[in-house]
Amino acid sequence: MRKTQVAIVGAGPAGLLLSHLLHLEGIASVVIESRSRAEIEATIRAGVLEQGTVDLLTKSGVGGRMQREGAVHEGIILRFAGASHRIALTELTGRAITVYAQHEVIKDLVKARLDAGGEILFEVRDVALEGLDSSFPKVNFLWKNEKQQIQADFVAGCDGFHGISRPTIPLHRRTEFKRNYPFGWFGILVEAPSATDELIYAHHERGFALVSTRSPQIQRLYFQCDPADDVKNWPDARIWEELHARLGGADGWKVTEGRVFQKGIIAMRSFVVEPMRHGRLFLAGDAAHIVPPTGAKGLNLAVNDVKVLSEALSSFYRGKNEELLNAYSATALKRVWRAQHFSSWMTSMLHRFHDDTPFQHRLQLAELDYVVNSRAKALTLAESYVG
Ligand code: FAD
Ligand code: PHB
Repeated sequence: MRKTQVAIVGAGPAGLLLSHLLHLEGIASVVIESRSRAEIEATIRAGVLEQGTVDLLTKSGVGGRMQREGAVHEGIILRFAGASHRIALTELTGRAITVYAQHEVIKDLVKARLDAGGEILFEVRDVALEGLDSSFPKVNFLWKNEKQQIQADFVAGCDGFHGISRPTIPLHRRTEFKRNYPFGWFGILVEAPSATDELIYAHHERGFALVSTRSPQIQRLYFQCDPADDVKNWPDARIWEELHARLGGADGWKVTEGRVFQKGIIAMRSFVVEPMRHGRLFLAGDAAHIVPPTGAKGLNLAVNDVKVLSEALSSFYRGKNEELLNAYSATALKRVWRAQHFSSWMTSMLHRFHDDTPFQHRLQLAELDYVVNSRAKALTLAESYVG
């Protein structure tokens, strides 16, 4: 049996950053992860880091490569009715976003933990939590075909939406709020320089499209699709035809074509569990909440959760004071619901819904027009987007 102070389930951004922040406070943790290091370092997901996320990574000493390789963006483009309109994020809010891929953040955090002698056990199986109502919760699992047990003071459930932590909480002790969207995102990675310096969120009667980036030579593109569709139905030529249709316009702006080297379909949902705590188990990140990616909030919420949780745990260990731990769920949920609201607003303003009528389409255009022409409305969007 291993003993530690905090047992962390899941080596995503939430679990790894929590382990790192606790280490800086002198608190020991062990992270267990069901996938291999190679796999978690290669999974393509988020790209947009809020200013607060960038500041926390920098302050905690894991922001060096992000500072060198990440791209700071001071605005985004809303494109509709065939024309582009800039939301000047920095001019409006004084803050900016940084485009730096989630798997690069993962690489930086894994390296920092291992360099500091931190323990991350990869490729664990059959994880089960026990004694969450006691002061000695335990995590049982298989590792290298051997039964293992970690006894800790606390367990952090950072194992994402499909993990085991949340379902371990008895049904009568949690409430779930959810909404599934009738569409998904088709995402591709393309080897080609971008035709835009800033992200483009496009509204079109054929559906939403998004132009993002990963590096000066790699573009990340998405378009709204049927969540039950199959990537096999989308040869490259069809993808480009769809993107040109949704992103084109009278101004002649065009997305740059290139070699498509990755394709995938992402389901869209909104989800929150309350409370984010059960006894000695604390949930953080996607294990507790999911937002549709339109607001670029998921990773940033995970970072905020573990910032709040690490402060609460360090206050506990410094003074045996449980006040911040008791406030954790309510404190984190406040930010979660703000982000839910913003993500839901962006999603409904920019996507085509099955039951859309021409009337609703016109309402979306009116709202977009309002956002780009009113400083107050643009500021509302910018403030939420930069975090
Ligand atoms: P995860 O990243 O899901 O990590 C959980 C980890 O736990 C995984 O490594 C998993 O293997 C492991 N695990 C699962 N079950 C077990 C188990 N039983 N035992 C041990 N380990 C387990 N967010 C943004 O902020 N900005 C964006 O631009 C953005 N874009 C996105 C684009 C896409 C296409 C997608 C899909 C998501 C996007 N997100 C974005 C959301 C963001 O990627 C997630 O919110 C983020 O990964 C959450 O981090 P996490 O650590 O909570 O969970
Ligand atoms: C991304 O680059 O993957 C990305 C950017 C913005 C979003 C979602 C995803 O809103």
